[in-house]
Amino acid sequence: MCGIVACISDGSAAPILVEGLKRVEYRGYDSAGFATVYRGRIRVRKDVGRVAEIEKSTEASSLQGRIGMAHTRWATHGAVTKENAHPHTSCKERVAIVHNGIIQNYLELKRGLVSRGHRFKSQTDSEVIAHLIEEEYEKSKDEVKATIEAAKLLRGQYAFVVLFQDKPGSLTAARNDAPLLAGISDRKKFFASDVLAFIEYTDRVVFLDNLEVGSLTDEGLRIFDLKGREVKRGVTQIAWELGDTSKREYAHHTLKEIHEQPTSVLSAMMQDEDKIAAFAQALKKAKTIVLTAAGSSYHAALTMRNRLTREARIRCDAVLAGEFRHQSHLVDADTAVVVVSQSGETADVLEAVKLARRAGARVLAVVNAAGSSLARESDLVLLLNCGPEIGVAATKSFTAQVMVLSMVVDRLVGRSTVGDSKRVSAAVAAALKTEGDAREIAKKYADRYDFYFVARGDHYPVAMEGALKLKELSYVHAEGMAASELKHGTLALIEKGTPVVIINPRDETYDDTLSNAEELKARGAEIIGVSDVPHVVYDHFLRVPRASGSVTPILEVIPLQFLAYHMATERKNDPDYPRNLAKSVTVK
Ligand code: AGP
Repeated sequence: MCGIVACISDGSAAPILVEGLKRVEYRGYDSAGFATVYRGRIRVRKDVGRVAEIEKSTEASSLQGRIGMAHTRWATHGAVTKENAHPHTSCKERVAIVHNGIIQNYLELKRGLVSRGHRFKSQTDSEVIAHLIEEEYEKSKDEVKATIEAAKLLRGQYAFVVLFQDKPGSLTAARNDAPLLAGISDRKKFFASDVLAFIEYTDRVVFLDNLEVGSLTDEGLRIFDLKGREVKRGVTQIAWELGDTSKREYAHHTLKEIHEQPTSVLSAMMQDEDKIAAFAQALKKAKTIVLTAAGSSYHAALTMRNRLTREARIRCDAVLAGEFRHQSHLVDADTAVVVVSQSGETADVLEAVKLARRAGARVLAVVNAAGSSLARESDLVLLLNCGPEIGVAATKSFTAQVMVLSMVVDRLVGRSTVGDSKRVSAAVAAALKTEGDAREIAKKYADRYDFYFVARGDHYPVAMEGALKLKELSYVHAEGMAASELKHGTLALIEKGTPVVIINPRDETYDDTLSNAEELKARGAEIIGVSDVPHVVYDHFLRVPRASGSVTPILEVIPLQFLAYHMATERKNDPDYPRNLAKSVTVK
């Protein structure tokens, strides 16, 4: 779950690496480092902390050399220390590597290397790659061969880039089940985990497939399989722009992305009608349907499951991506597996796709990142069109997912519940007006530690999403639950002053949920009502516009996004880079 960027530049590489690394910092941010080759030596600067701090403390931008690489870390093996930060070098420091992923057989490899005299400087799994390549390079003096031979020995997930002291014009890289792509322009060439790392220099990318090695020089990119055979691969143009990655006038990416939703939901509605029709047809044809995803994307999938069963009368299952392997017997050649993801690189999701494929199922994806592994490994793809999402917490991607999934169900049932795009965008803009009230509520409850989010029916996934946002942004324990479950246990946790968010618009769930609010209040809870109508039982009220069933979850989640964001700032957390998390969970 780390971020990697490497480049061969026509000028100094370091400043490009520093800016590029900042744009992939959402992939992990506990430590970072840089390396360049200059005058026949590899120079490394690394430390614990955020990229901007390390840039200052190590003067990384002053590193000389036109070729280099950088890494921002999310620790898996080895504590967050300077030694465990990347890049890692081999014994004689002639080889340096940066790595994203987990090498499952690293202990066995390390034992072999130590027995052959290698000395390790870190506790990471990644460092074995540097020593393996050093050994292979000694034999062949060929950087591509050495990278291939080393990659053949690795088990697990990896995307790594290699710098060679005596090959100042060349970078090699390898990939297996972790994101890695190349960026090509006349004057600069890149390897990176994400197009955002080099989007200001080029939108021309080449994707490496699993078990492939890339070699980058001034002449361009060459790709090889692990048998050393050259592989031809076309260039893809990416539709994202640098401007999409700025915070504009907002304090944080997360706040900007919440405020972007009137337009991002509109862009999500700009779908190719034929693709929506094909997606709906694939669902109609399938004997069984399984929806799978992780985190916020799973909550979006739950909104589709509810509508599919209620309105399309189609039986379907929603399975957490990480649990898919334990339920894959459900899946066969007559199954349509709907996979929902923002990044398209979530390891559990990609494994579910692999298992679904193995069972002969059709894989239908709803994803934001056009060039992601999920997009490339699915039979049918609907893109969210909501632009890059930098804040670790999913906000605009969640509402875009709910919209796109609703449009598929609308197609299936042959009637439009989403309605006119302008009206939808206006309703989303109206929901943004809850920010002031949400901020006040956040101020009031900033010192509280237990929060409950309660709802019924189509609103239950929104309760789950609201709780997840609060947990990941403000580090407050929060539980999202079905209101019907309260009396079966959770009510015991309610005491004087316990804050409970009730999501309760005027629909078929209204009366029952209101009774639950009364029961909670009777036990001392302080009720925060999210609805289109106020009620005396609410101690605080967040008004969302009245809308059709499929749009309501989009409107209701917005005040909950604001509540989590303002709780985070009240508690002095960084909303864009919450502790212990990363935007794209590329390890299982
Ligand atoms: C949500 O705010 C989190 N960032 C996380 O739960 C996320 O939704 C999950 O990791 C799934 O990511 P994906 O949509 O990129 O697959």
